[in-house]
Amino acid sequence: MSTNTAAQTIFITGTSSGLGKLTAIHFAKMGWNVAATLRTPENEQELRQYGNIRLFKLDVTDLDQVRTAVDAAIEAFGKIDVVVNNAGMGTYGPLELAAEKDIDWQFAVNTRGPINVIRAFLPHFRQNGGGMFINISSFMGVTTAVPLGSLYNMSKFALEGLTEGLYYELKPLNIELRLIEQGGSSGNNFTNNIIWNRDEKITVYDEMMDKLSALMGNRDNSQLDDPQEIVDAIADLATGVNSKFRTVIGAAGNSLMALRNSVPIEEYLETMAQNNR
Ligand SMILES: NC(=O)c1ccc[n+]([C@@H]2O[C@H](COP(=O)([O-])OP(=O)(O)OC[C@H]3O[C@@H](n4cnc5c(N)ncnc54)[C@H](OP(=O)(O)O)[C@@H]3O)[C@@H](O)[C@H]2O)c1
Repeated sequence: MSTNTAAQTIFITGTSSGLGKLTAIHFAKMGWNVAATLRTPENEQELRQYGNIRLFKLDVTDLDQVRTAVDAAIEAFGKIDVVVNNAGMGTYGPLELAAEKDIDWQFAVNTRGPINVIRAFLPHFRQNGGGMFINISSFMGVTTAVPLGSLYNMSKFALEGLTEGLYYELKPLNIELRLIEQGGSSGNNFTNNIIWNRDEKITVYDEMMDKLSALMGNRDNSQLDDPQEIVDAIADLATGVNSKFRTVIGAAGNSLMALRNSVPIEEYLETMAQNNR
């Protein structure tokens, strides 16, 4: 049975931590209904404190769970206005050393997951005469910056391509698409990062792997984006204050994209390669 059809409703994936959880709480405080989805709702306490947040179990790679969660959220709230594809993780390391399962999982969570959720919502949005998908990407989805991130780049570039490509078929249906390119954000865990194991016989990547481990282990929070800035950007998109297709957050992402757009790709790649030496 519907609980409240007057308020706007947002459906968010990956609300157990980081950006997803902050976004759920922010929209609840704004008076929206929130369908907060996560893999382990049984472990969640904080989100249960809000009367307008309902929890739904959802692993975005599990098609049955996606359909069940989407149906249950629609049943609970009557109408969903905005869907945020936030769930994500990163696998990092030399492609040569990646486990097959890690390659597939990177694509399954960051790319196939949003596809699953978008497809599950399209009948509802068509029936409502519109809706909005906000896809959480990264500046790593529009440019490259460091070695050993190729699979993460691949997954977010694919998400960007999916979102751009869908514009043409969903715009006539009044279904809006938005992308957030966030940089590194403090306060977010990015808990699911995987850095794969070394191979004792293949040592050529060791130095790069040491640098990556140091970079990930010693993230300087003062250099990272404020997660509240990202949450505010999501709110501005959901409420129509900002209608940009791509919203880039943070100095790092903005300067990298400005460089990428202003020089030939060969020059960009060589500049970044030298920065990483
Ligand atoms: N943090 C950064 O520096 C950064 C930079 C650029 C882009 N991003 C993007 O921002 C988004 C949010 O990340 P975050 O920084 O907030 O990291 P986070 O704290 O690790 O949050 C990631 C969320 O995704 C969920 N998730 C992972 N695999 C899932 C699956 N198969 N099904 C459903 N949920 C799943 C996690 O749930 P569990 O607790 O169940 O694992 C968690 O709730 C991601 O799309 C990420 O790629 C982050």
